[in-house]
Amino acid sequence: MKILHVVGARPNFMKVAPVMTALARGRGVVQVLVHTGQHYDAKMSNVFFHQLGLPEPDFNLEAGSSSHAVQTAEIMMRFEPVLIREKPNAVLVYGDVNSTVAAALVCAKLLVPVGHVEAGLRSYDHTMPEEINRIVTDRLAELLFTPSADADKNLMSEGVPEDRIHLVGNVMIDTLVRLLPRADCSSLLQELSLSDQRYILVTLHRPSNVDDARQLTEILCALNEIAGQVPVIFPVHPRTRQVMRELASLEFSSGLHLTAPIGYLEFLALQKGAALVITDSGGIQEETTYLGVPCLTVRENTERPITLEVGTNVLVGRDMARLRDETYRVLSGKGRTGGIPPLWDGKAGDRIADILLALSV
Ligand code: UD1
Repeated sequence: MKILHVVGARPNFMKVAPVMTALARGRGVVQVLVHTGQHYDAKMSNVFFHQLGLPEPDFNLEAGSSSHAVQTAEIMMRFEPVLIREKPNAVLVYGDVNSTVAAALVCAKLLVPVGHVEAGLRSYDHTMPEEINRIVTDRLAELLFTPSADADKNLMSEGVPEDRIHLVGNVMIDTLVRLLPRADCSSLLQELSLSDQRYILVTLHRPSNVDDARQLTEILCALNEIAGQVPVIFPVHPRTRQVMRELASLEFSSGLHLTAPIGYLEFLALQKGAALVITDSGGIQEETTYLGVPCLTVRENTERPITLEVGTNVLVGRDMARLRDETYRVLSGKGRTGGIPPLWDGKAGDRIADILLALSV
């Protein structure tokens, strides 16, 4: 059996690793790894391949950055000949980025079965590019591997036949479970002179938060104020960095530490030690829930409602007064505690491999 994996952007890399490892245990499985090149900076890509122990991609499509239409089209045009040449039995796509939907579309037209890992998540917010990618990918996929029961419900309500849906758990958590012991050895906290539970970690990269200079300024002002009380560490995504260059007049407090994007292990160490994480990322809502670290999500909605119901996540929307209030609530020890959702146990990749291997006999 030949399985071809397509990845392209930072959050895909943590998701493909456990699936490749689990499939490698199957007899007669050949795996091909395609990197679309959607993310290309060393700090957004190479460091993850290295730390996650991923093999060098068999193909790098070097599609790069552009508008949505151009990026998606470039990936499709560059992926089609690879698919025709490799003739895999199935293609696995991951998450909700442009690379995911682009590859799924190419497969559908060439009648190659697609499995979607992290299927069924819905924010019901069609202004989010990722929501369009999720809906289209799930529509095209023949195998839908879901991380939580809410995703199964969403798919069934959209008419997806039940026998295509497989609740397997969360592959991102597989990688976290595997690498947490190594992250614990990271010396980054010491290097940044941060002590456990005495700092806030921030990430922001959603277009709705960072593409508009006024919105980003409001968020940065709130963070600046908070950083007057407790150190705030903020690894800045390239997309966010671009907009921040236009905000040169903003003066930051000495407590607000802006850094370049950082590697997986170091970021995990920072999450684990944080008193609070403020983010608009999907994956970080999940990782903080697993780690039991309070998380404030600067979005109006989430496609990961289980992190609100079971975990430590609180949606603060884009109301900065609410962000400040909730931050001070957490810092005064009144933050949310939570549990770990079912099947977020480090074995989701094994379940996916078992299903694929059973299909091939
Ligand atoms: C993409 C995903 C988003 C995911 C995020 C994780 C889509 C629609 N969005 O958003 O779901 O949460 O990745 O990071 O697929 N850039 C660089 N170096 C890089 C990559 C990007 O400088 O290695 C800059 C480029 O100027 C680019 C901008 O960042 O224009 C945005 O990159 P892009 O891949 O289009 O979207 P992300 O915002 O990273």
